[in-house]
Amino acid sequence: MADRWFASDNNAAAHPRVMEALARANEGHAVGYGDDPLTAAAEAKVGSLFGPGALVRFVLNGTGANVYAIGCFAGQGDAILCSDCAHILVDETGAPSAVLGAQLVPLETRDGKIVAASLRETIGSYDDMHKPRPAVLSLSQPTEVGTVYAPEKLAELTRLAHDAGLAVHVDGARLSNAAAALGLGPAEASGYRAADGSRGVDAVSFGGTKNGLMFGEAVVFSPAADLPDTARLRKTRLQLASKMRYIAAQFDEYARDGLWRDCALAANRRAAALAAGLVDRGYPPEYPVETNGVFVRLPPAVVETLRKKRFFYDWEGGAVRWMASWDTTDDDVAGMLADLDGALASAGLRVGGGAAGQPYGAGAGAGAEAVEPPEAAAEKAAALAEGRRLLRSNWDRVDALRSPESLGLPAPPFVRPAPDGAALVALPDPLASGLGAKAFADCQASRRSRRKYLPEPVSLEELSFMIWSCAGVKSIKNGNAFRVVPSGGCRHPLDLIIYARRVEGLAPGLYRHLATDRALALLRPASVVPGADPERNGCLSLDEELDAALSGQLWNSAAVFVWTAVPYRTEWRYTVAAAKTLLLDAGHACQALYGACEALGLGTCAQAAYDQQRLDEALGVDGIDEAAVYVASTGRVAAR
Ligand SMILES: Cc1cc2nc3c(=O)[nH]c(=O)nc-3n(C[C@H](O)[C@H](O)[C@H](O)COP(=O)(O)O)c2cc1C
Repeated sequence: MADRWFASDNNAAAHPRVMEALARANEGHAVGYGDDPLTAAAEAKVGSLFGPGALVRFVLNGTGANVYAIGCFAGQGDAILCSDCAHILVDETGAPSAVLGAQLVPLETRDGKIVAASLRETIGSYDDMHKPRPAVLSLSQPTEVGTVYAPEKLAELTRLAHDAGLAVHVDGARLSNAAAALGLGPAEASGYRAADGSRGVDAVSFGGTKNGLMFGEAVVFSPAADLPDTARLRKTRLQLASKMRYIAAQFDEYARDGLWRDCALAANRRAAALAAGLVDRGYPPEYPVETNGVFVRLPPAVVETLRKKRFFYDWEGGAVRWMASWDTTDDDVAGMLADLDGALASAGLRVGGGAAGQPYGAGAGAGAEAVEPPEAAAEKAAALAEGRRLLRSNWDRVDALRSPESLGLPAPPFVRPAPDGAALVALPDPLASGLGAKAFADCQASRRSRRKYLPEPVSLEELSFMIWSCAGVKSIKNGNAFRVVPSGGCRHPLDLIIYARRVEGLAPGLYRHLATDRALALLRPASVVPGADPERNGCLSLDEELDAALSGQLWNSAAVFVWTAVPYRTEWRYTVAAAKTLLLDAGHACQALYGACEALGLGTCAQAAYDQQRLDEALGVDGIDEAAVYVASTGRVAAR
């Protein structure tokens, strides 16, 4: 058994600088319980990482930090809202409930991150005398699966909680790793200083033990928080160290010259290298490797053999967890991967071939290293692994993660509603016009992607036929809206937004398709640009914005189809399997549009190469609860 391993960052030794700081503090007498100069200096130093007025209280351990911090805002009969995989929920022996008498309420997550809709719904459904009062939202940064919230997302969740009267706590046992990954300080990375300038989180458990300290954590309270007597409360929560100077000495060093960041960066880099090695071997990690944790599913025989050489923990759902620490070296990573290769070989599995026989990333061999620095290769490998992860079936996890449907929550509506007061345009009956009678075999034989559009418009009947071909609702039965295209579980998570540029009888603009009403709702009108050539891109006021959003692929089309995904519609039933199935749905829809265009003698071209943020912004969708996933331009083309 190797004497170094990846079981936990808690298993690593303390950093030598921390040991030296402890030795320096270990001289003479010092007043106890934190009334000594070193504690005052360390509190000020840690406080300065967060900003003026930050109140720093050192505590003994991580569970204590969380219970103490949360207990400043929640007590008996209250609810603590947290992610369904939060450490306080799954790994702290129920301490928050046992000590505080408050109930932990899990919220739905995606890649470990709380879904805003779930927070909103839970807050709403707990507005009931028979349920505990939601008192605190506890977020984890990074999450329990090592992923990192974007600061904007933290601000959004914090705002939602604050607006409902909840305090917000961040479990930052590995906050340094998240901050290093984001390239931010602990205040910004934890949401203590909110990205949107609104009120930040109220309390942060700022960890040290997992990142180079011997023991000890800090709880940082915001001056904006409504606080009880935090000094007395720390004692009643059994977290007041009498020999405080020893925690203070460690944090004093930790906050000096960015030691916290250096340790975290080292751990994050080695985790990325491990992830790259796994991808090379055809075993991409379960979650994006954004900090120092790697979760991966390996064949049981491989795990069994590897376990004889290395100590590590099983994770739920059949994965194993490997954690890199501040002291993990490149040799440790190479040794672990070599042991993995041995385990793969003894299980009769291919070694080093890569998932598709095309290895890439940090372990890609001398050729790749020569053209790409290892860090860039590791980053690329991690991003590729994230993409490949989506290709893998995860239906085995669907039953384990209770779906909103199984919890009795109502099904979301079939389509997103039109904005209040939006002008509605009824679409002509697509089948009444007799359009599209060309034989299927002929359509398939002539189909190609067509990008050169003529200036002549398409008719409203043709547009209606195209829309119907890929989004038409045929019947509504037993709570399902059956459409002309298939969809996993009949959930139909895709909506259509159309940029109509040249459609006879339809004013130019962006329209949302109301599938169950066979109508379009005007989202944004597009006016004619005075003096512009009416036959070219740029003739309409929205052209420039849409062309940029489509990465220069507006192509003077007559109408652009944008499929947006409303993931919750499928997540409601299939939770984690939703992302993949809705993309499969999108392929069906676009292929149907190709067929319709061939049948009508029109042209279309699928487009995946668009600018996500710009397009979502142009469409007025938030990119999270609804986001563009696929595009197709359409228009009249020269006769075949
Ligand atoms: C998922 C997908 C994404 C595509 N994205 C683009 C795109 O962004 N830009 C583009 O010009 N063509 C795009 N295409 C069209 C392909 O380039 C085209 O289908 C391919 O070259 C084969 O040509 P064909 O469709 O005429 O048979 C895309 C096609 C698919 C299926």
